Amino acid sequence: MPIPTPTMAEQPIFPTLTPAQIDATRTSAWLSTFEEITPKTSIVDLDNVGEKDAFLEWLDADSIFIPRDSQTQPGPSHVPRVEEVEPGDDDSDTDSDSEAPVYHLPKLNEAIRQALKDRNGSVFPKLNWSAPKDAAFILPQTSHGPLHCTSPADLYLLLKSSDFVSHGLDPVRAYASGESIPEESAEPERRSLPVELVLKEYVDVNPSREMRCFVRNNVLIGISQRDSNFYDHLQSEETRARICDTIRSLWEDEIRDQHPAMGVDYTFDVYLNPKLDDALIIDINPYRLSTDSLLFSYPELHSIFTQSQAPVSEITEQDRPRLPVLKVIDSAAHPEASRAAPAYGGNMMPLEMIEMSQGRSMEEFRDAWQDAVARGMTE
Ligand SMILES: Nc1ncnc2c1ncn2[C@@H]1O[C@H](COP(=O)(O)OP(=O)(O)OP(=O)(O)O)[C@@H](O)[C@H]1O
Ligand SMILES: [Mg+2]
Repeated sequence: MPIPTPTMAEQPIFPTLTPAQIDATRTSAWLSTFEEITPKTSIVDLDNVGEKDAFLEWLDADSIFIPRDSQTQPGPSHVPRVEEVEPGDDDSDTDSDSEAPVYHLPKLNEAIRQALKDRNGSVFPKLNWSAPKDAAFILPQTSHGPLHCTSPADLYLLLKSSDFVSHGLDPVRAYASGESIPEESAEPERRSLPVELVLKEYVDVNPSREMRCFVRNNVLIGISQRDSNFYDHLQSEETRARICDTIRSLWEDEIRDQHPAMGVDYTFDVYLNPKLDDALIIDINPYRLSTDSLLFSYPELHSIFTQSQAPVSEITEQDRPRLPVLKVIDSAAHPEASRAAPAYGGNMMPLEMIEMSQGRSMEEFRDAWQDAVARGMTE
């Protein structure tokens, strides 16, 4: 007997995603399909490099020691240049180096350096699905945006300071579907997932032009502003219509049905050009609770979806939403816009940093922290 497929109106709030569909949202899985419409990107697969176990051991260790030989040579890097110490060096002014762990990832250093060269000297890093956004504070601010890396050491420092990147290394979390956000699994399980560094050409992003788009059952239902500030220039009807038209065309012409492995439920992030008449893909995410629904809620997206698909007998054309529904922060008093706390505040500081910051100005603290990091590389 044939199994009846659910009608549109019976679709649950969240689709059930298979591990294969979630894998299809990895950058390495979609990059070749969308290469013309995404910033240039290098993928470093730790299995191919042959240093996956050593990398995970370093990442899991409690210390903040940075792998040897990872600083830019000879140009400047964000991480202060320090003298390298050979294990067992008998240098008279260091006395604790015999006990300090020494991490050595020469092939990975080389692969990152090659990627930096290929991407004009600076990259935006991700590990599997996640960028270390919660660790952005660790690198000194430059005229570029956060997470601007110019050396393997910059990258290591970010990865080591981030909680977010570990989510993409845990198979239970990585493949969770729907509403579940499981506890982290035991460390050995992490060895089973591929580990990929995604090194994207660095783009100086204007956050007002970043949007997240929601696709349910192969219908583009919603678009949300990604940044949480109010922007006057996003308010006019004309601008909003243009944003919807541009994203709808991009999706219909270049995304829909182009990468069947990800299925019919996903979200994609775009970056619009200054004229708002073209856009690049920044990322693709699974359609599930752990993907931030930003100015929508998932039940709201579900209701937009069901109303848009309802038969004419059940809804007046006036009540039927016009898709995609665009949400931007529409006043400076919007609850999302008035959040005083910095984004990812809860993830910001490892305990040792909080301790180190006591009684210091931000500048003194930054110097002290960089000093400690530099010492971490030699001790
Ligand atoms: N190539 C890039 N250059 C500079 N900044 C970037 C680049 N790609 C992304 N960003 C910035 O970093 C933010 C996060 O990027 P991205 O979506 O790739 O990370 P993510 O970890 O997948 O985020 P999320 O958890 O929200 O899905 C973007 O909103 C954008 O502001
Ligand atoms: Mg993402």
